[in-house]
Amino acid sequence: MDAVDVIRTKRDHGTLSDAQIDWVIDAYTRGVVADEQMSALAMAILLNGMTPAEIARWTAAMIASGERLDLTAITRPTADKHSTGGVGDKITLPLAPLVAACGVAVPQLSGRGLGHTGGTLDKLESIPGWRARVSNADFVAQLNSVGAVVCAAGDGLAPADRKLYALRDVTGTVEAIPLIASSIMSKKIAEGAGVLVLDVKVGTGAFMKSVEQARELAETMVSLGTAHGVRTVALLTDMSTPLGLTAGNALEVRESLEVLAGGGPADVVELTLALAREMLAGAGRTGIDPADALRDGRAMDVWNAMIVAQGGDPAAELPTARETHVVSAPASGTLTRLDALAVGVAAWRLGAGRARKEDPVSAGAGVVMRAKPGDPVVQGQPLLELHADDPARFGRALEALEGGYDIGAEHEPTELVIDRLA
Ligand code: URA
Repeated sequence: MDAVDVIRTKRDHGTLSDAQIDWVIDAYTRGVVADEQMSALAMAILLNGMTPAEIARWTAAMIASGERLDLTAITRPTADKHSTGGVGDKITLPLAPLVAACGVAVPQLSGRGLGHTGGTLDKLESIPGWRARVSNADFVAQLNSVGAVVCAAGDGLAPADRKLYALRDVTGTVEAIPLIASSIMSKKIAEGAGVLVLDVKVGTGAFMKSVEQARELAETMVSLGTAHGVRTVALLTDMSTPLGLTAGNALEVRESLEVLAGGGPADVVELTLALAREMLAGAGRTGIDPADALRDGRAMDVWNAMIVAQGGDPAAELPTARETHVVSAPASGTLTRLDALAVGVAAWRLGAGRARKEDPVSAGAGVVMRAKPGDPVVQGQPLLELHADDPARFGRALEALEGGYDIGAEHEPTELVIDRLA
């Protein structure tokens, strides 16, 4: 096999053979195919696409590049959730303990944030003592004892994707549906859960800006999961405005605790329950209402056990930023738009996110929203509260928010869950 032949096939709109795909993924993982060759191939895939059969084989080859977690020792059914990423998306935090409290084990390998979307591990790391790294043996033991683990993926899982994703990030080839779908699904299938619920975000704060694109990504991922024996369902959900009232690491943990205590913002509760119901139904646990486990404290008990099992202190004070700056409503009326991307970029610039993988994040930084679209506002009232350790960060965050909200008369309510694909 020759990398140049594989690149030429895709460049000239051809279909890659199974043998070409198996070889190129394996050779790239071993360093035999060079980064510049793989980036040319990734660009050819972005421009010319892949057939469903090519995507399936590409995904299988990425799974085969590493280990598959063996969850056969788990006594309960297993279900996992993946979100394609959004602003204020803290759903994993209440969802994992909630589903575990309803009798389904949740093995959840999560990531760190890059750019304007936050990462679940960054959020949890704002809890004093909490560790993201868990060995495979402890992972299985915690799933059996507590019922939920949220942790970093080990290096052994889909190493081809680890290398390829880093390359795509710097070569303008992230936004290819075959590459996004195979990247996400290779990791999720290797993780070994029996059920997978995908939260595919649509809107300004998401990867996929249109419902059509999001539907194509969701359909591709659902068929990959199903072909590998994972019961897979996708919800398309709105990401034109942030989820909940906070964007930022410790701020989002606080909001998640409100949900686990039976309160919290209505949209966060709605999406947490919608995803929980899908996970429970996929695992055969019908007839259980997850709302009960939020009301009666069972989900909070699992949260506390999950945090303690990974070295965290659930009773410890969460960090707060040193400085705050309030953005006031410039007029009275109804908040008709609050743009997810604007808030996400502002939170990122305040220190909640990172520009490069190695950058540290500020646990306390972020944005608190004092109003959401549809809420009445009075001129001069606080609209947004910016939190940062360094006041020099406020200027650039305020620039990100310029044009990011409208106050008017009529607000058109939108559905949070736009569609369901199975
Ligand atoms: N998340 C992933 O894991 N991979 C992608 O390609 C995009 C988002």
